[in-house]
Amino acid sequence: MLRPTGFVNALHRIQFRSERNRVSPSKKKQSPASWRHYNFTTAGPVDDYLYSMLPKRDAVLTEMEEYATEKSIPIVGPAVARVLQQLALMINARKVFELGSAIGYSTIWWAQAVGEGGTVVYTDGDSNNAERARGYFKRAGVSRQVVLRTGDALEILSEEKQQFDIIFNDVDKEDYPRVLRLIAPRLRKGGLFITDNVLWSGRVAEKNPDTQTRAILEFNRKLYDSGVFYTTLLPIRDGLAVALKR
Ligand SMILES: C[S@@+](CC[C@H](N)C(=O)[O-])C[C@H]1O[C@@H](n2cnc3c(N)ncnc32)[C@H](O)[C@@H]1O
Repeated sequence: MLRPTGFVNALHRIQFRSERNRVSPSKKKQSPASWRHYNFTTAGPVDDYLYSMLPKRDAVLTEMEEYATEKSIPIVGPAVARVLQQLALMINARKVFELGSAIGYSTIWWAQAVGEGGTVVYTDGDSNNAERARGYFKRAGVSRQVVLRTGDALEILSEEKQQFDIIFNDVDKEDYPRVLRLIAPRLRKGGLFITDNVLWSGRVAEKNPDTQTRAILEFNRKLYDSGVFYTTLLPIRDGLAVALKR
């Protein structure tokens, strides 16, 4: 259900934070970060245009984007993160579960959307990622919203008794079919199951798909065929599947 006041307040909070922490734009011309999947779903100049439209991020998110670029960490990046945050605001999400959070970049966008009193469950199998993420959460002012869990994200989700407004899937691709089997009971009716990398740099259209691509193909087919979900595959960046639980 949409609650207009909550939505508008959340939007103001996010915009205010962005203004406050604005960093000056870099004058250097750099090649696009690897996490952008440049030239794949949109042609190079159009992709540049889309990214040029995005408002500047605050200092912490900007630093994370630079760190991810430097270390080749596959974060969703600001174009997809903005879609995630917008979807969360549209359904007034208060509880988000994230499978595969790495350094916590997408987690911060969720945390800003759920606001005070909201919760985002961060999960990652790598404790170094979790430690780095913890530092970013503190600096971004979202520590209170984030429940940080280290371990197998699928196991952690299996143990959850509560239902979430949004479940975001960004783990290893071989696990996608297994993730799909876990979702329905842990998502409220009207909630969103969102999955990244569903076009897998275009490999889903190749004649001889490898193991990871076959897992994504199986996942996409089952998600579309499911009577439980109403699904759309958005061709943004590396492909984002948005599935509404009926
Ligand atoms: C693509 S990155 C996540 C990026 C993050 N969602 C973002 O956009 O900022 C995938 C992360 O998932 C973690 N991962 C993969 N499979 C996992 C699993 N089964 N359980 C927990 N973490 C997993 C990896 O350690 C990696 O850090």
